[in-house]
Amino acid sequence: MDSYCVFGNPIGHSKSPLIHRLFAEQTGERLTYEAVLAPLDDFSGCARAFFATGKGGNVTVPFKEQAYQLAGSLSARAQRAGAVNTLKKLDDGSLLGDNTDGAGLVRDLIRNAGLTLAGKRILLLGAGGAARGVIEPILAEKPAALVIANRTVEKAEDLARLFADLGPVSASGFDWLEEPVDLIINGTSASLSGDLPPISPSLIQPGHTVCYDMMYGKEMTAFNRWASEHGALRTLDGLGMLVEQAAEAFLLWRGVLPDSAPVLAELRRQLA
Ligand code: ATR
Repeated sequence: MDSYCVFGNPIGHSKSPLIHRLFAEQTGERLTYEAVLAPLDDFSGCARAFFATGKGGNVTVPFKEQAYQLAGSLSARAQRAGAVNTLKKLDDGSLLGDNTDGAGLVRDLIRNAGLTLAGKRILLLGAGGAARGVIEPILAEKPAALVIANRTVEKAEDLARLFADLGPVSASGFDWLEEPVDLIINGTSASLSGDLPPISPSLIQPGHTVCYDMMYGKEMTAFNRWASEHGALRTLDGLGMLVEQAAEAFLLWRGVLPDSAPVLAELRRQLA
């Protein structure tokens, strides 16, 4: 049976084994999927050992940049993202690196949440790996503007330069912004520590602006609580992105796109 895994450290909390097991059941694909705790100082050795027989792997924190280095070839979106979250062993034994995070976010926004990104003013908070991974797929939807705001403004400026050929992207500090936008996406890791990026509530047009936190948890995230207190039309968390990026990886590996809806519902049920 073909074997797949997710590499991370820590990895005990990962929902990927459950998600892919449900996808496999649903599609009738025969495969195994396990969580692999890769040593912090030897991701590549661990990955090489797995791929002696394994067919594919997801990669999570903190190995996405190392997976980018390890891959023998890269999809265009992984190249732009500078990070790999999905590895696939090709017939010649080499590893293809892909990044399905951005496609997962955009699919969650459009298909699951029913939003349109075309023509919208979008604010992306953060300029780390998570933010970088979603810029290309967002710009592909042709927003009116994508502003990347970050605590360290230079990092936002670097990203805006890197993606400038793909659409109307610019950089900002958190406190330079005041005009309301249509969609705010929190791609900072601030929610992990219950912190908030220091942005003005005036960015939220009450009853209009949608807010999305790439993080998720049993409780509403600090960012989504803040957004909801300031009148956001809707607040969405990153659980849908997690399931959709997995669906994209499953498609790359097996050539079948699973139906994410029942899997998302099951994860939501377990989180409650
Ligand atoms: P990830 O892979 O989750 O993106 P990362 O590459 O370390 O992790 O990036 C973390 C992002 O969250 C960065 O944009 C970081 O801002 P800096 O570039 O200025 O460091 C942002 N971040 C982390 N903690 C934050 C906080 N408390 N407030 C605002 N931004 C924060």
